[in-house]
Amino acid sequence: MKRLEEFTNTCRSAFLTVLFVSTLQGVHSQLLISPVSPLIVKDLAGNNVTLAVSFSGAPDPTLTWLRDGLPVVTWTINSVFPPDIDPNSKDVLHVEKNGSLTFIRVPLNYSGNYKVEMAKSGVGTASIQFTLQIFEIIQSVTLNTQSDLVKEGIDQFILQYSMLQGVIEQQTLNRNDTGSYSVRLTNPFSNVTAQTDVIVFYGPDEPILKATPEKSFYVAGDSVSLSCQSEGSPQPTVEWIFNGQKLSGDLSGVMHLINVQTNQGGVYTCSLLNQKTNEKREKNVTLSIYERPSGSPVCSVLSGSNDSLLYDCDWMGGTPQASLSFPALNSTITGEGNLRLTLPASADLNGKTVTCQADHPIQQNTCNITARNPKVFLPEIRATVMDSKIVVSILCASEASPQAVVSWSNESGAITTGPCTRSAATPRS
Ligand SMILES: *[C@@H]1O[C@H](CO)[C@@H](O)[C@H](O)[C@H]1NC(C)=O
Ligand SMILES: *[C@@H]1O[C@H](CO)[C@@H](O)[C@H](O)[C@H]1NC(C)=O
Ligand SMILES: *[C@@H]1O[C@H](CO)[C@@H](O)[C@H](O)[C@H]1NC(C)=O
Ligand SMILES: *[C@@H]1O[C@H](CO)[C@@H](O)[C@H](O)[C@H]1NC(C)=O
Repeated sequence: MKRLEEFTNTCRSAFLTVLFVSTLQGVHSQLLISPVSPLIVKDLAGNNVTLAVSFSGAPDPTLTWLRDGLPVVTWTINSVFPPDIDPNSKDVLHVEKNGSLTFIRVPLNYSGNYKVEMAKSGVGTASIQFTLQIFEIIQSVTLNTQSDLVKEGIDQFILQYSMLQGVIEQQTLNRNDTGSYSVRLTNPFSNVTAQTDVIVFYGPDEPILKATPEKSFYVAGDSVSLSCQSEGSPQPTVEWIFNGQKLSGDLSGVMHLINVQTNQGGVYTCSLLNQKTNEKREKNVTLSIYERPSGSPVCSVLSGSNDSLLYDCDWMGGTPQASLSFPALNSTITGEGNLRLTLPASADLNGKTVTCQADHPIQQNTCNITARNPKVFLPEIRATVMDSKIVVSILCASEASPQAVVSWSNESGAITTGPCTRSAATPRS
């Protein structure tokens, strides 16, 4: 878990040291300048520091001290005129008669490259370069993350130590970066270590949604549990939403649905929230809850106009509705709960048993119907005595589907018309 980042801060020490020593020029070149102090001078802020040189070869040359290329002091040695010192540095810089440059109570920001140039007409010029590094005593260092909220995926992760505002690490942050960080600051005069703990907040991760038991659909009356799990830091909170309404689940993200009804079918949304980062994530699960239509499908055939036959199949109710078809009559026409198919009556439909195929996810069912011509029939004559009268009944019995219509008549014309099976004519006794 712990990852220790060590960062050695040698601030203000990473200067390139370039030494130019030139001893020149011309025939009588005698002007020589040499360093007395080291070429790299390190000291503490507040001390008096001298970049010490000595020269020879010519008396009283002109002298220029440059800081990072810009003149800060010019003087002709032993001149009656005082040295010309950069006004911003008057309190700090002091030039000695031997050409050395002294920094009085040197401030931290006087680190830099310093070059001294001497010139004497007819004798030439000479120069030398020093590097000055000013340090301070490191104290009360604290290490902090830039913001309170350290969140996975952020591109920049900055740990700051309060003393020098130095940046020690930048990276795309990962949950595994949770841990303890430390910074170690050193300079030639002191060293200090500071430490901080970083917790990386992350998630919710992609939720894992599960219905138990797992089925492609449920039947009204079943019980189902929905669970929603996701990783995160802190652990994400779970909310279930159905039809725009919040439902109560337990804290572990599990919701129990007992004795489900068809109106509980639909999309359930699991909504996860990281309460620290406000990151949200949603996932849907669709529950199909079905109910079988009651009873069994019912088939019938009726006469339609123009000698047509109307085949009818009924199986109403249920969720979803049953899909009905008469494959033997037309394989492409289907109906939901009810199907009516009109066909011209033809000889090959006479006596043909037609099956209605009724498909529901819970059950498949059929019903059969046969269309028949009325059969050739002989009237059945019965005589009975009723109240001393003889009643003669002529019964017509014929089977047909659709039911046949029967017409009675005698010499003088039509008597009655009615359904076949129960019709009777009663002649006068
Ligand atoms: C530095 O030089 C100044 C001026 O000459 C003097 O007053 C002071 O005491 C010196 N400080 C130290 C630490 O030597
Ligand atoms: C130059 O002068 C300063 C101040 O008078 C002195 O401290 C230093 O030692 C001298 N340097 C040399 C090389 O004589
Ligand atoms: C989840 O379902 C709801 C309601 O049907 C819809 O608005 C939302 O976009 C869905 N979310 C996802 C992630 O599919
Ligand atoms: C309808 O007829 C088919 C085929 O002859 C048969 O399998 C099925 O059991 C019959 N259905 C009913 C409800 O009698």
